[in-house]
Amino acid sequence: MSRKPIKTEPTEPDTTGHVWDGIEEYNNPLPRWWLWTFYATIIWGVLYTIAYPAWPLVNSATQGLLNQNTREDVTAEIRRFEDANAPIEARLVSTDLAAISDDPELVNFTQNAGGAIFRTWCAQCHGSGAAGAMGYPNLLDNDWLWGGAIEDLHATISHGIRNTEDPDALYSEMPRFGVDELLEPEQIDQVVQYVLQVSGQDHDAALAEEGATVFADNCAACHAEDGTGDRAQGAPNLTDAIWLYGGDAAALTESVANARFGVMPAWTGRLSEAEIRAVAFWVHSRGGGE
Ligand code: HEC
Ligand code: HEC
Repeated sequence: MSRKPIKTEPTEPDTTGHVWDGIEEYNNPLPRWWLWTFYATIIWGVLYTIAYPAWPLVNSATQGLLNQNTREDVTAEIRRFEDANAPIEARLVSTDLAAISDDPELVNFTQNAGGAIFRTWCAQCHGSGAAGAMGYPNLLDNDWLWGGAIEDLHATISHGIRNTEDPDALYSEMPRFGVDELLEPEQIDQVVQYVLQVSGQDHDAALAEEGATVFADNCAACHAEDGTGDRAQGAPNLTDAIWLYGGDAAALTESVANARFGVMPAWTGRLSEAEIRAVAFWVHSRGGGE
């Protein structure tokens, strides 16, 4: 059996003649495939700048022979969705608020569109799931400052609360009993103990008894005789365990001394009537709607 002789000594490749510290640079040719790929990318690059918008000019850029415009593509795409939704939005606007829940197609639409609107425009304040945060009411429970019927929600969302942009915004103002010295510090302590009492928390009974009088004289006009609040004025119920600004003695003292002034923007003008209705329905159907 004959064997091919194994080549042991490779032929020395050419060098470029450059030498650094005894290290020589080989002069191998570039692989063919690499070179052709390289030429192809150059040709592709040139063709691309001819076909598509590419070279910046002073105020614009070359437009390219294909006349492609991503901005117009987006506008067209948005228009396509708007056109597709136009009939159902028109129906949503022309249907009586109370009758929308009888139309399954409208209900379906409000669930999808309303949820998307909420996540875009409302979630930063009310939380992505609408559960609220300190100063921003939970919209999932059935404890409403201004009312939870669909008509109430529609009005609240349309005009907002205590904002300066919409003359029809819901408005009320709790006096700053401490800052404006409407009550003595002791009276504030007393009424805070009374609020702790009516909300079923630990309290000082003697102070709370004095606080009952302070409450009747200063607070009942808005929060009602029994402390259950008044929706016409957005005055919260003080007898439940749900607090907008906190229910411990420190938070209550702050609420009474400095008052609170929650502001919600108006959405008329920012959102279309159909969008406002859709998000009002979405909120209404979260569980707390009345
Ligand atoms: C910049 C913050 C902010 C944004 C954004 C916002 N809200 Fe509000 N919202 C508030 C505040 C604050 C209140 C409570 C005001 C008060 O104390 O009476 C409120 C109250 C409400 C109420 C009344 C709740 C009740 O108990 O009566 C509803 C309903 C509501 N928001 C819905 C929405 C919807 C729907 C959107 C989006 C279209 C939205 N909000 C966007 C801050 C915001
Ligand atoms: C002119 C009406 C008015 C009067 C009078 C008034 N309040 Fe209020 N109160 C409000 C309104 C409106 C709010 C809600 C403010 C907001 O949402 O930003 C509020 C909020 C509060 C809160 C916060 C509730 C929470 O959920 O965090 C407390 C506590 C409170 N009031 C206690 C009192 C006490 C005690 C008095 C009497 C010393 C009083 N208020 C008098 C209108 C009134």
